[in-house]
Formats: sequence, structure tokens, C-alpha cells
Amino acid sequence: MFKINENYQKLPGSYLFSTIAKKVSAFTEAHPDKELIRLGIGDVTQPLAPAVIAAMHKAVDEMGDAGTFRGYAPDLGYAFLRDAIAEHDYKLRGCDISPDEIFVSDGAKSDSANIQEIFGQENRIAVCDPVYPVYVDSNVMAGRTGVYDPKKETWSNVIYMPCTMENGFVPEFPRETPDMIYLCLPNNPTGTTITKAQLQEWVDYANKVGAVIIYDGAYEAYISEGDVAHSIYECEGAKACAIELKSFSKNAGFTGVRLGYTVVPKELKCGEASLHQMWARRHGTKFNGAPYIVQRAGEATYSPEGRTQLKEQVAYYMKNAAAIKNGLKDAGYTVFGGVNAPYIWLKTPGKMTSWEFFDYLLENANVVGTPGSGFGPSGEGYFRLTAFGTYENTLAALGRIQKL
Ligand code: MLT
Repeated sequence: MFKINENYQKLPGSYLFSTIAKKVSAFTEAHPDKELIRLGIGDVTQPLAPAVIAAMHKAVDEMGDAGTFRGYAPDLGYAFLRDAIAEHDYKLRGCDISPDEIFVSDGAKSDSANIQEIFGQENRIAVCDPVYPVYVDSNVMAGRTGVYDPKKETWSNVIYMPCTMENGFVPEFPRETPDMIYLCLPNNPTGTTITKAQLQEWVDYANKVGAVIIYDGAYEAYISEGDVAHSIYECEGAKACAIELKSFSKNAGFTGVRLGYTVVPKELKCGEASLHQMWARRHGTKFNGAPYIVQRAGEATYSPEGRTQLKEQVAYYMKNAAAIKNGLKDAGYTVFGGVNAPYIWLKTPGKMTSWEFFDYLLENANVVGTPGSGFGPSGEGYFRLTAFGTYENTLAALGRIQKL
């Protein structure tokens, strides 16, 4: 008789956004007349930039011509895209990352879940709390997290680094020494971030204790303050301890197109073992490359027109963020984030739990958000709204919340 991976049985409930989707569809079935405004999952609403669409059309035509048709993409990504990434995301920022340290993928979600595969089973992970649920769940599936405590909603073998308003949402070095540290900055879900100097301290810490940092920079395009690093490789010593994950979903609206990349520097070693070689081996074995058409779309985001158009899109969403932040403040809410990230993180009013506030907002304002506790126990009493809606819906949602 076959056996299953018992670790899957340990996962409590379903994936956060699937749970929310189920609750929302039950509500719509029961109240078909209510017009919902969805500010829950961080999914974009603006169409792809014209430069991206033009590149995709051109690539589609190439695929229809025997002379320019492409089959399997190179496993690590086409050189035209890796060169553009190395130039714009790294060289122009003073970071020394070469194109062959960049692995193009179908998005940062899969990379953030898969990257743990190249690490030993006995490693202890440290995560910010609250945190993007994929980091912990993927380690649960791999059997690295120990036993779940349903009361505390924590795993025995995970080191949690609470990020709350008391510590300004800045993770503190844990008392126990971790082997793998997940950092998402600017942060999902709190919408806050840390300064470059604070990030440098994390890099120094990781190098000192021999830990690896898995650095999720999916929201980098939303950084508006000058003292915040756009890449962890702006910090000295980061190439010896950090892997960086990047996405085209939030800066270019590729949530439905699917494209991302991971940087594994050649300097990153565990003894003699090169993590770069291991990830290349893994990528080559388990992945056949992001589609040519999509990689051309990615390349177009770095063209002069593409960059201008993307900046406009980011500004559009950040206008929403400012409107939500100011509107909620005016309505008496305590609000964080929204300055370097497209997420607003608010304290739930009164003594409401995160899920109580979710239901309250859904039923009374017909607005969907994300309960903070879904991201970890320290998210209890908080709630996340995304700035990725349309401007009109954002204002309408605010109007409804202000009337509550
Ligand atoms: C979120 O809402 O946290 C994100 O959209 C999830 C994701 O990027 O996968």
C-alpha cells in the first residue's frame, strides 16, 4: 500500500486565501444583490502596460513563424531577460550580480516555496510573525517545522520573530539561533519595512551565526523612502549569506502572466557545496523555463517606455494606498504601512479579533480584506487591506468603512 507524505496532514486548515475565497463565495451566494469590493488578496487590477502588450504580440508572431519559433526555453532563462535584470535591478544600483546568478522562474511564490528543498531537514527556520504563509507552509510540507500547537497557532521547530506596533514592525534577532531566516521587505502583510542600515545588521548577523537569508523582495517597486535598500545585495557581505526572490507580479501586474526570478550568488556556500550549483541542478531537473512570450514581456518592463509605464502603475496603486491610509486615520483607525508597500495594516477596532472584523466588514460594508491572524499569531488584532483595487473601488470601500 502506498504511503502519503504525512506532513501534509499536519497543515491546519486550508491556504489562507483559499479560506477567504470560500467565505466570500458563501456570502455572495447568500446575498447575490450585494456588490462586494475586494481588497483582500494582493491581486492587481490595472491592465498590462502597453510596452508589455506590444512585446507579447511580437513574441506571439515570432512563435507563429518557423524562422523565429522557439521550443523549450533555457532552464535558467533567456539571456536577453537575465541581462536586463542584471543591468537594471543590480548594476545600476551598485550591486555586483552577474546574469548567470539569476534564475528566471514562473513567479516568486513557487520559488519561495521550493527554495527550502536545497536545505537540510534539520535546519531551523526563523520567520517574521505575521508572515506570508507560504514560507511556513512549504516547510511544514517538507517536515521541518515540528509539532503544531493549535492554541498558540505556532510550530515547535519554527522561530517566530514578532513584528508588532510595539517594536515598530522591525524583527529582532531571535534568542535561539536560526539556520534559515525568511525576510520579506517591504513586508507583506504589514506594509512596513526597515532601513538599509537595519538590513545590514541582519546580513552581519546571518554571516556571524552561519545562517542563510531568504529575502523576498516582491514589493521592492513600492519603496518611496531613500534609506531603504532595493536589494539585499546593497548590503556588504550579502552575497555570502543571501538568496533574493523577485517577482514581476506587483511591479508589472503579472499575477496572471507569471514571471519571477531568484538570485543565488556563486559566493553562497555551505562548506564546499555551492548553493548556486544546487539550485541550478534543481531548476534544470524540475523546471522547463518560463514561456518565451512571457520572458519577452518581462524584458519589455526594462525598456525606457516600459519603465515609465510601470512607474505610473505603481504610482496609481500608491495613490490608493495613501487614500486608504488617510481615510482610515480620519475615521479613527490606527494604521500602518502604505508608504513603501501597497498594503495597509490596521488595528481592528474595539476588541474585535481579526476574523471578527473580517466578518463585520464583509457583512456591513461588503468589503473583503485579510485577517491579520491568518499570517501568524502576532497578526491577531490586525487587518490587511490592499491598495491593488481600482481607485474608484478604493474610494467606494473607504466611504462604506467610514460610515460604519
Ligand atoms: C497576498 O495577498 O499576500 C499575495 O497576493 C499573495 C501572493 O503574492 O501570492
